[in-house]
Amino acid sequence: MNSHFEELRAETERELKRVFDARRGGVPVRLMESMEYSVNAGGKRLRPVLCLAACEAVGGNRAAALPTAAAFEIIHTYTLIHDDLPAMDNDDLRRGMPTNHIKFGQATAVLAGDGLLTLAFELTAEQPQGYKLDPAVMVRVARLVAKAVGAEGTVGGQQADMENENKDADLKTLEYIHRHKTGTMIAAAAETGALLGGADDATAAAMLAYGQKIGHAFQVFDDILDVVGNAKEMGKNVGGDEKKKKTTYPKLMGLEESKKYGFKLIDEAVAALAPVKGNTQFLKDLAVYIGARKK
Ligand code: IPE
Ligand code: IPE
Ligand code: MG
Ligand code: MG
Ligand code: MG
Repeated sequence: MNSHFEELRAETERELKRVFDARRGGVPVRLMESMEYSVNAGGKRLRPVLCLAACEAVGGNRAAALPTAAAFEIIHTYTLIHDDLPAMDNDDLRRGMPTNHIKFGQATAVLAGDGLLTLAFELTAEQPQGYKLDPAVMVRVARLVAKAVGAEGTVGGQQADMENENKDADLKTLEYIHRHKTGTMIAAAAETGALLGGADDATAAAMLAYGQKIGHAFQVFDDILDVVGNAKEMGKNVGGDEKKKKTTYPKLMGLEESKKYGFKLIDEAVAALAPVKGNTQFLKDLAVYIGARKK
């Protein structure tokens, strides 16, 4: 992306290291190894970068959002570990490495996911280093994160994804799947980042709307990359959606219409930022990057 993305990504990496270093010794060695293996395998760090960027866009101090930003990456990593399990997508390559269950076995992979998901909520309840958050904001953020990634959000989307394999689902169902399995978490990263940065309700709502659009677009382009992408570059296998007869945008609309639709969502995301008073340039660049990415 650009150097600011790199800066926010580096900040995320330091925070993740701090989080795991602080817990070493208190976790069974193999479980810790398994959790850290997937977190440190690479990954674009889009969700934490977005959370930090939303915080600073509204004039906040990034330090305020850092534990929650790390929490999003940790939750996202758990979803990937479970998504790759034989009972779900049955994938053997993730972030350029063997998937967690290939490396550690299914039972440890399930538990690593459980450990990561719960760890994330410890972080949302933690005061950031060098910044004192209003506890009311922390509670509000924790609730939003939980709602976004639970059964009403990510988990519900994954259930619908699974139930619609081998089916001729309609566009409405497909939209539900994508907005939930991927959209709600990305949207919450933007919304909570803004709240941690001191945003008022109207600004947080605009940030949520922006996040919903880029979150939806992100999965549209993920589907497209599963058809046209390069496995080596992406660090995960391609072609799996067709093999598993998944409900995807390219399947329902065709490749070109899917791209058009993805770009339309990105335009709408940028437009949704209009009410945000502050510097939203990076968030706009981030939206454009989602449609241009190769991995
Ligand atoms: C992959 O997410 C899973 C989806 C929600 C499509 P990313 O493409 O953000 O994966 P990493 O974090 O970079 O590995
Ligand atoms: C991922 O959807 C959604 C979640 C992990 C919650 P996919 O199954 O399309 O993600 P990839 O393509 O395996 O990364
Ligand atoms: Mg999946
Ligand atoms: Mg998958
Ligand atoms: Mg995919």
